[in-house]
Amino acid sequence: MEIIIQPDPAAAAEIAARLIARLIREKPGAVLGLATGGTPLRLYCELVKMKLDWRKITTFNLDEYAGLPSQHPQSYHSFMREKFFRHINIAGNNTHIPNGMAKDIPAICERYEKKIRAAGGIDLQLLGIGTDGHIGFNEPSSSLASRTRIKTLTPRTRRDNARFFGGEKNVPHHAVTMGIGTILEARHCLLLAFGRKKARAIAAAAEGPVTARNPASVLQMHPKVTVCLDAAAASCLEMKKYYRWVYENKPDWQNI
Ligand code: GLP
Repeated sequence: MEIIIQPDPAAAAEIAARLIARLIREKPGAVLGLATGGTPLRLYCELVKMKLDWRKITTFNLDEYAGLPSQHPQSYHSFMREKFFRHINIAGNNTHIPNGMAKDIPAICERYEKKIRAAGGIDLQLLGIGTDGHIGFNEPSSSLASRTRIKTLTPRTRRDNARFFGGEKNVPHHAVTMGIGTILEARHCLLLAFGRKKARAIAAAAEGPVTARNPASVLQMHPKVTVCLDAAAASCLEMKKYYRWVYENKPDWQNI
């Protein structure tokens, strides 16, 4: 796990954007796993500014609320359309987001997994983290081998996301999410976290035991993970001095 600590979210998002841009330039038909929430917004703005060629890129989003129509302003379909897809030259057919309105959820989950496999697997999976350590909507106690399925959100996650819904009572209780096993199959995972409220979840994920109590901790088992943090999100890391030193003294050939 490479942990990159930057002074602020803008600097951390810029590094993440450079990483994705390099992949797109090197592999114009790359498959990206995308994330939603407040955290990736800066990164998406950076990527838009870079004017990359997205025509051959395929994307799979991590998750979607169950029971929210795709036109609902807080659906992740709307989020992706408004914040990212309509600003780049990606082909609509190449973007995939789980259908939270499907009648047969297990069937669409299985199809989602098949589509990921048919596309050749995910080259780079972007991730945020919940204050309880969730990735996608894989809440604590999720099976570390789980596949795409429906999950029940914890009260804490519903509280955290209430700001987008004008109150907790409007936040859905369920979501369709890629599983942890699905996420672990991505060839590279890029986790972003900003702000003091993520600091404990990040410390547990990077330096704590691998446990379903903090689903992001499973990334310790993945061969290629980059974590981009601002100083506040890094504040509880015991080894932060070391991570900073490693990044600042990276040999040129390793630099992003
Ligand atoms: C939601 C999403 C996650 C995201 C997390 C953090 O629950 N399903 O993918 O990482 O929230 O959100 P934010 O970036 O807004 O803090």
